[in-house]
Parts: sequence; structure tokens; C-alpha cells
Amino acid sequence: PHSTTRLAHGDLAVGGVPLTEIADRFGTPAYLLDEAEVRERCRTYLHAFPETDVLYAAKAFLCRAMAHWVEEEGLGLDVCSAGELELAVTTGFPASRIVLHGNAKSPEDLRSALRLGVGRIVIDSASEIARLAAAVPPGSRQKVLVRVVPGIAAGGHSKIQTGTEDQKFGLSITDGSAQHAIARILDQPGLELVGLHCHLGSQITTDKPYLCAVRRLVGLMARIKDHHGITLPELDLGGGHGIAYRPGEDALAITTLARKVRAELAESCAAAGLAVPRLIVEPGRAIAGPAGVALYRVLSVKRTSDRTFVAVDGGMSDNPRPALYGVRYLPRLIGRRSTAAPARVTVVGRHCEAGDVLASDIQLPSDTHPGDLLAVPVAGAYHLSMASGYNLVGRPPVIAVADGHARLLVRRESLEDIRSRDVGL
Ligand code: LLP
Repeated sequence: PHSTTRLAHGDLAVGGVPLTEIADRFGTPAYLLDEAEVRERCRTYLHAFPETDVLYAAKAFLCRAMAHWVEEEGLGLDVCSAGELELAVTTGFPASRIVLHGNAKSPEDLRSALRLGVGRIVIDSASEIARLAAAVPPGSRQKVLVRVVPGIAAGGHSKIQTGTEDQKFGLSITDGSAQHAIARILDQPGLELVGLHCHLGSQITTDKPYLCAVRRLVGLMARIKDHHGITLPELDLGGGHGIAYRPGEDALAITTLARKVRAELAESCAAAGLAVPRLIVEPGRAIAGPAGVALYRVLSVKRTSDRTFVAVDGGMSDNPRPALYGVRYLPRLIGRRSTAAPARVTVVGRHCEAGDVLASDIQLPSDTHPGDLLAVPVAGAYHLSMASGYNLVGRPPVIAVADGHARLLVRRESLEDIRSRDVGL
């Protein structure tokens, strides 16, 4: 991140705050979010994508401050539960700038969306049409997008590929379910179909799949115009923009992506005789990921004939990504300068299974010992938002850093929090 600076004694400052100071003040494990980095990334998107609705995908990470920052920067929000929606709205986030997603929206999700007046609801399945139409109050109309399956394989891991035919999201164009659903939506007086949506997958590092999606969705828009005589005014291309987790890894270049997508959209629409729809994009990871840093304290070091295991005070309950997707992080020692030779180590968590590995085969100083602090960069997306309470370990706090100040955004989950939910016996 641009606001990371090296300090004396091997310390590192983010947002002008030394990481050792954060660890002393808030304890470990802890997550910090660099406010300036989040805001800068929002601005990069708005600049790269003019005349586009840029929605931050809240699933990457949401707390009230995060909602407030992206709202102030002028982004909208993509939510996929009543929880995300209600939290955002309590910060004053205008519901009209919020889009609700989900392949299996609960009655509560829909009720909450309609009551608060979200801007768009994305219809993901045939069965949702009647359910939503029945829930819309008589006399009013809910704007909807329909999520289609473009039939494109893209994404950093099979578990996060959502553009192919054989997965749970969306309506297939190939087998006609999308076209069928569209006809039914157009028959519902309570629903106003404003556009198509697709989300290809996550951690995508090339722009090709997006250009292909533009062509396929514009193709469908042209068929909709032929059949129904309407031109849909919006096209939502979802998120999925990949970032680098380690130096040297590929990230998707947002400015280039935006230029190519806009050119492809203009060209495809011209060829199909369609007015160019308003574009919507939904980045999550690319906004939150690089702005976050996880801080851990080393609790034990075990040397075997094959390996050195450095165990820290967090693990798969705050960062399930290595276990789920085989992602490789690069923790670094902070808070002291070591002159020891680098050694190959595996950084593991504190949880009760061997798969609780945060980083395998990385280099740390050979004198890394209990009490040392490790920082894991690029920890802002899909860590805490996917955190679990495994082993009844409380979730870490979230601390904002900006202009040399640190402030607590989300406090650490205490044993009392955990105990208080347990009401039986
Ligand atoms: N829009 C929709 C409809 C989505 O489902 C998602 C992510 C996004 C936007 C934002 O995608 P992003 O720009 O963040 O890639 N837990 C996984 C990622 C799951 C992504 C789910 N959907 C991980 O840690 O890699």
C-alpha cells in the first residue's frame, strides 16, 4: 500500500501508525484497515469507469466505517443479505444506491430490501420471480436485474468460478432459462426489469473474460429487443478483479480493463443496433484487499527434521483462505531488526487441525521466536467477512489507521460475547 513506510528497528507504519503500536494498544491478532488506501482505490475506480455505477461488494468486508467511506467516495453497495443491508443503512447509506444479490434470498432478505427501498434486486432464479412479485406492495414497482450465466470459466480457483453453466448462480442463456425468466418478469406489474447482470468469478487477472461477457450479454440484450421490443438500460458486469497477494503476482489493471470494456460495449452495441446501456461494476476484493493488514503474535516455534513451524495466535478462524483456496500469503517479521539468516518456515495458526496453515515455505529470519510480531499484508478482503468462531476463539478487532491515528472500528469478540449467545443448559 502507498501509505506503508519502513521505520527504524524493523517496524512498519501503515497510515502513519507503527504496527507495533497497534499490537501494544489493541492486542493480537488484529486487523487494520488503511482508510486512505480504501478511499484511493474507490477514486481509481470512479476515474477509470466514468458514467458507471461502481458498487463496492460488501461481502469482501463490511463494517459501518467501511460503508461510510465508500458512500462518501460516491460508490454504491452490493449486498447479499439483510445483515449487510441493514448495517449499511444504519450509517445513512442511501438504499437507492444498494443492490441486493443472492441465489437463495431469505424472506427476511427480501422483506428488508423492500422495506428499506433498495435500488435494485438481482433475480437469480426462476422461483424467485413469483416470490418477489408477491412481496412487492400493491401499486409499487421494484427495479430488478436478472443474473444470467454467460458460460465463461474465469476466476482464481474452482470454488470462486461463477460464470460457468454447472454452478448454482444465475439463469442459463444456453438452455433458454434466462430468456424464459425475462419473459415472466416482464409480465409482472410489480417488477421493472432494468438490465442484465453476470458475475464471472473472483480473483480474475485478465480482461478477456470480461470482454467475452460483454459480447454475450449484449447479444442477449439484442434478442430481448427483438422479442419484446424493449432496450434494457443497464448492464452489470459484477466484480472479480484480481489483486496481487505477493510481490510479482499479477493484478488486473483497472484502468485498462475499464477502457477495453467500454470500447467493447460501445462496439457490440453499435453492431447490434442497441443504445449503450449504463454500466455497473461490483469490485470487492480490489477495494478492500490491499488496504488490510493482519497482525499476529508468534506463540510457538517447532523445529522438525523437515520443517520449522511458526505458530501464531490466529489462523483459519480469521483467515480461512489458504485452507479453502490454497492461497499463498507472505507474512513478514516486524518490530525488530533481525540479522539472522533467512530460514524456510511454515506459518501455522492455533486451531486444532493440521490444515490450519497461513503460509507454507516462506522465508523468515531463523531466529523468529515466541513473542515476535508477524504482519500479513493484503488481508482486507474475505478474511474477517468469512471469519468463524472455530474452537470458540473470539474474532479479532478491526482498527482504522489514517493520518497517524488509529481508532477501533470493531472490537474484539470477547469470551463474554461468546458465552452470552449460549442460552441453553
Ligand atoms: N458481485 C457478486 C455478485 C459477487 O458474488 C461477488 C463476489 C462480487 C461482486 C465481488 O467479487 P470480487 O471483486 O471481490 O472478486 N471468498 C472468496 C471470494 C468469493 C467471491 C464471492 N462473490 C475468496 O476469498 O477468494
